[in-house]
Amino acid sequence: MRIRRRGAAVLVALISVLACAPTDEPPPRSAAGRHTGAPGIGDPDFPQDGNGGYDVAHYSLTVDYTPATKRLTGLTKIRAKATQDLSSFNLDLTGLDVAKVSVDGSPARFSRKDGELTVTPAARLDAGSPFTAEISYSGSPTPAKDTANLGTYGFIPTADGAFVASEPNGSKTWFPSNDHPADKATFDFTVTVPAGLTVVANGEQSASPSTAGGRTTYRWSERHPMATYLATATIGKFEVRQGRSPGGIPTYAAVDPKFKTGLDRVYNVSGEITDYWSTVFGAYPFSSTGAIVDDYSAGYALENQTKPLYGGFDPDEGIIAHELAHQWFGDSLTIKRWKDLWLNEGFATYAEWLWSEHRGKKTADTIFKDFYNRGAKDPMWSYPPGRAKPGDLFNESVYTRGGMALHALRKAVGDPTFFKLLKTWTAEHRYGNVTTRQFVDLSERLSGKDLDPLFDAWLFQPRRPTLA
Ligand code: TRP
Ligand code: ZN
Repeated sequence: MRIRRRGAAVLVALISVLACAPTDEPPPRSAAGRHTGAPGIGDPDFPQDGNGGYDVAHYSLTVDYTPATKRLTGLTKIRAKATQDLSSFNLDLTGLDVAKVSVDGSPARFSRKDGELTVTPAARLDAGSPFTAEISYSGSPTPAKDTANLGTYGFIPTADGAFVASEPNGSKTWFPSNDHPADKATFDFTVTVPAGLTVVANGEQSASPSTAGGRTTYRWSERHPMATYLATATIGKFEVRQGRSPGGIPTYAAVDPKFKTGLDRVYNVSGEITDYWSTVFGAYPFSSTGAIVDDYSAGYALENQTKPLYGGFDPDEGIIAHELAHQWFGDSLTIKRWKDLWLNEGFATYAEWLWSEHRGKKTADTIFKDFYNRGAKDPMWSYPPGRAKPGDLFNESVYTRGGMALHALRKAVGDPTFFKLLKTWTAEHRYGNVTTRQFVDLSERLSGKDLDPLFDAWLFQPRRPTLA
């Protein structure tokens, strides 16, 4: 089980989608000839997510958090490039109070509306030029809610700290950002908490923690491009083990004392699986691997880059295999539009089946057949996984039928081509953004077959495909 599922329909999400025009069109210009960055990056299913007119290269996040008061004080510094002339541009941020914004070192005007922070620099930014923005803010973070599948996400205060898991668009609950996976950037984290607590963020620690006046500052840095939803700074009491996997990949595991008997197992299994996936999917894309097990009862896990986060349970090998497969499928290769989510979840689910096969348990073929034999009335057959629905993004079909699509592909092209395809896919798009069309094209290029009928039946039709 990966995520806790709720049955309820998502009317609210649907209404908000219908109420907003898609933003694939060029940004609006006012009569005064001003150039405003669009309030969305152009994902028609999530018209307010991300922003237009610039591209972020780096986030430098400074956060001070006190669990007892739930108060967060933040300073976000962004390095970006304007992709059009900009008299103003937006960032995504919900809740929290903004005290000050500056652009290129000069104070900027700003305003807030819904989840949008609009920044008007003192001088217009020219298309193609780099700029910096600094935002000072504070308050008590309010997590986001997904009524369909996931419950609460974003920056979630816990008894001893915070559980930070932001897919698909919860980064804006704790820092101002271009909160959409189409704009990846590198990250630095400087996080200060009461002494005795540990902060675990993405990448590696860039300095040892330092304590002064009863507060400890942790510094982490992720030097490979990362989607905002994969950023974490999870805070709490943790037992930590660090070292290297048998294959030599630096490994960091943090486990809440409630699960401390699991620390060695989670540490060892995470290293072992990262090594194994490196042989199946191609070289590990990041500088370290690991795990965080927190006692917050999310009932799900998230593939935070280099640091999968498990919420409230001792993870078994299947879910560890799933989250670590996401390091290639989702994290290194990141979807450009949420409708292509099966490129993350179908692949990570199929990886669970490959792990089972590798371990001499059920083969992927047996697991595929078990699902197929659920019968033609199973709800996943009416939900085409190649087109994830905004109000029901994490539907089981996106996971299971997405995984089945890969098994059907494997049978159609044969094992040598299938496994070569996985490695070619991850190599050609390493650290980039991807679409389903690109995967279909590559599959056809490597196999020399017309695979449109297969992908159409498995990804896009609202019925159970027939078996070849
Ligand atoms: N991608 C996660 C998985 O399949 C599930 C997930 C989606 C999630 N959104 C989330 C988990 C938000 C935590 C928070 O492993
Ligand atoms: Zn997943």
